[in-house]
Amino acid sequence: AAQEVTLVIFGASGDLTHRLLLPGLGTLLNSTGRFAVTVIGAAMDDVSDDAWKQLVRDALTEAKTKPARIEEIVARTRYVKIDVTDPQAIGPFVSTLPPNSVLYFALPPAVTIKACQALVGVTLPEGLRLGLEKPFGTSGSTAHDFNTLLAKLVPERQIFRIDHFLGKATVLNLLGLRFTNRIFEPVWNGENIESVAIVVDEVLALEGRAGYYDRNGALRDMIQSHLLLVMALFAMEEVASIDEREVRDLVAHTLRATSLWTGDPVTSSRRARYTAGHIGDREVPDYTAEDGVDPARNTETLAEVDLRVNNARWAGVKFTLRSGKALGDERNGITAIFKPVAHVPVGFKGEAPRNVLSIGIKPQTIALQLSTNGAGDKFDLEETVLSTDLDDSPLRPYGEILEFIFEGNPILSVRGDVAEECWRIVGPVLDAWASGAVPMSTYRAGWAGPTDWV
Ligand code: BG6
Repeated sequence: AAQEVTLVIFGASGDLTHRLLLPGLGTLLNSTGRFAVTVIGAAMDDVSDDAWKQLVRDALTEAKTKPARIEEIVARTRYVKIDVTDPQAIGPFVSTLPPNSVLYFALPPAVTIKACQALVGVTLPEGLRLGLEKPFGTSGSTAHDFNTLLAKLVPERQIFRIDHFLGKATVLNLLGLRFTNRIFEPVWNGENIESVAIVVDEVLALEGRAGYYDRNGALRDMIQSHLLLVMALFAMEEVASIDEREVRDLVAHTLRATSLWTGDPVTSSRRARYTAGHIGDREVPDYTAEDGVDPARNTETLAEVDLRVNNARWAGVKFTLRSGKALGDERNGITAIFKPVAHVPVGFKGEAPRNVLSIGIKPQTIALQLSTNGAGDKFDLEETVLSTDLDDSPLRPYGEILEFIFEGNPILSVRGDVAEECWRIVGPVLDAWASGAVPMSTYRAGWAGPTDWV
């Protein structure tokens, strides 16, 4: 029989619910009949049950959920008006939920914290799971305080700090690629790899999210969370098994060894903000002129940080993490540049192109650049690229995330100590930026970045 799951979405009237959570759920339920899900939407707004059911229906339809599954979910779903920060309201509501229910906090962090405080001392259902959206804290110490609060509610294994990049097939595929192929693991080190870049350059600008983005910026939005985790999966030691403890231990182990490339945030980080420009035929205003942006916050829209992983495997290898908005070209993936061969036989012409392994996260691709004899002059070296597109998962990223929460497997969730490590790594950069020690460059929207960066 299908496993009964009650999924409570706090902040149900917000944009995450219909844009990501419900479509993720729809694609999950298309792919498996393992779960019978009761969705309870909860928020402060007055929403009639009918209006709520319509919202659920629309979001599931948009995700091409099978009609029979839509009807099943719509028949079971309901809406609850509740102030989650009020202990008198949230306590009785949560304590009567069935065992193994999921509380998904699709709320601003400050509200989530208040709701969790309101749950301290409440008798919670057996196996209750908490789903928490980023940003998880705003610094190492606030993340630590939040972890301490959560530990008063449920065991760590029942806490799911969401990072949707961990639900992406290519990110998980780093494990398969490295540990199930003979040819990669022996060269996966600083003896052979010179540098690694993990880049998410987006063509999209603010998309109406200034309220969130202007308070965070590219470093907190992308690097502190997603890209550091991708780096850790790329750089970590071999796992003995695909098990939440093993994988998360090794992610934490790698992040604990990670620090700024030069040790100094001023020489290990760069920041920039876009000015007015064009992306294709779309006109983009100056960032500071976007609706909801406060120029006094001095928020960056492009961030780069150079890191090192202080162990024998990665000695001397620079890891550059970069992400930005309103750039000319979409780039989304990992590029490992190999060192030159120790010796090229006399007689070859030109320099041997480097081996470069590129792993595309979106779309999912793998490409390996090789040096080969030229087609024309037989000894003229040329680059040849072996590349393939991987099948896209039928699930949206939140589909995978929800599947693992329903199963009670936290392997795709950010463990508390991992979240704190991520803040520790970027903390000195945030401080240096706040003090003005690193200049804010500019780039025209639609360009590749500031012209003065190499
Ligand atoms: C989100 C960020 O977490 O990830 C966004 O807040 C960003 O700013 C997005 O655009 C990128 O994820 P994806 O899955 O759309 O590539």
